[in-house]
Amino acid sequence: MINAKIDAMNETLRQIASLPEHEAHCLPGRFYTDPDYFDYEVENVLKKEWHVLGRADEIAKPGDYFVTQLFNENLLVVRGEDGEVRVLSNLCRHRGMPLMEGKGSTRRFICSYHAWAYGRSGELLNAPRMRDKGVSAENCSLPSFRSEIWNGFIYCNLDDAAAPLSARLGQLGALLANYQPQDFRIVREFEEEWHTNWKCLVENFMEAYHLSIVHPETLHPYTPTGLSRKSMSDDSFTSYCANYPDSAQSRGMGAPGLPEDERRRSTLFNLFPTQIASQAATLLVSFAIKPISVDKICVRWTMSTYGDELTQDELEERIALWLEVNREDREKLEKMQKALSSRHAPSGHLAPRDFEGTIWDFYRYLGRAIPQPSTPLRAAI
Ligand code: FES
Ligand SMILES: [Fe+2]
Repeated sequence: MINAKIDAMNETLRQIASLPEHEAHCLPGRFYTDPDYFDYEVENVLKKEWHVLGRADEIAKPGDYFVTQLFNENLLVVRGEDGEVRVLSNLCRHRGMPLMEGKGSTRRFICSYHAWAYGRSGELLNAPRMRDKGVSAENCSLPSFRSEIWNGFIYCNLDDAAAPLSARLGQLGALLANYQPQDFRIVREFEEEWHTNWKCLVENFMEAYHLSIVHPETLHPYTPTGLSRKSMSDDSFTSYCANYPDSAQSRGMGAPGLPEDERRRSTLFNLFPTQIASQAATLLVSFAIKPISVDKICVRWTMSTYGDELTQDELEERIALWLEVNREDREKLEKMQKALSSRHAPSGHLAPRDFEGTIWDFYRYLGRAIPQPSTPLRAAI
């Protein structure tokens, strides 16, 4: 029963993803509310993909760490003695107690249960009273997950067989290059739970259609819907430019040589599937969306700035603005999530490409990412 339902939904997704852009329309509500489809997505798509965890300069010095969660894995992100960033399992190798919480800096990770101790690279250093048990650094060090640093972001993939990430990000790298994202420094990070499906936040962040309506006082003065333009996309990402009106004040110079037109817009991108970010001259805001259940996500977001151009007061103002924008979006998404299980949930038309073309790109990504059918299936739109 469940398999037949999933097959039919996948066929619907493929059909929607293959529509020409001017006929594009939304996924039906069940894609955002069906718990079986969520479980299927996690196992067949999300656990095979690269996910952003945070910024490398959050853990600038050896021994700096933070803890985060990706699906059923509890992760310890740490900078080792050798200066390398590692993503380790945050479970003690004795009986599975989570080792660390939150963030901090330490010489060794000591389990709170029976005091096994691990070094900064996850190597077992000490296991009290275990001398005759064959416990050693060879068999009881913390396992590590695949990780990569790109443009100052830390990415992780739970699938040991996954293809590397950075090698396929040439086009996105070119789009962002003049901003020099690798040189942005972390200002603040936040973590919160939203009651929405993970795809709803991706779609919301990536479409300009709602900007002037949902954010009349916060975003409309700087990034009105009418000036937004679809930008580059490829198999790994989609993007749009939120252009500032001539009347808007400068938001800073940013990196040396950053052209005027790039200084006067924010570039919003979705690195498929779960990173959404806004790159501007002096501010880089990135969200790591971590799906928890079909209607719940953990959002870990970071704000970084370029150089010292923005004063502390200006940074606090920007943080307050983003908090308010998030509140406005969250209110809409949480309301919509409750409604989407209706049998009348629509599969409405998407707006023209400058306003919702990024959602069409996202659907085409999803259509590529699901396992391809071995046998032809019936349509189910
Ligand atoms: S569970 Fe960590 S030392 Fe026992
Ligand atoms: Fe928004």
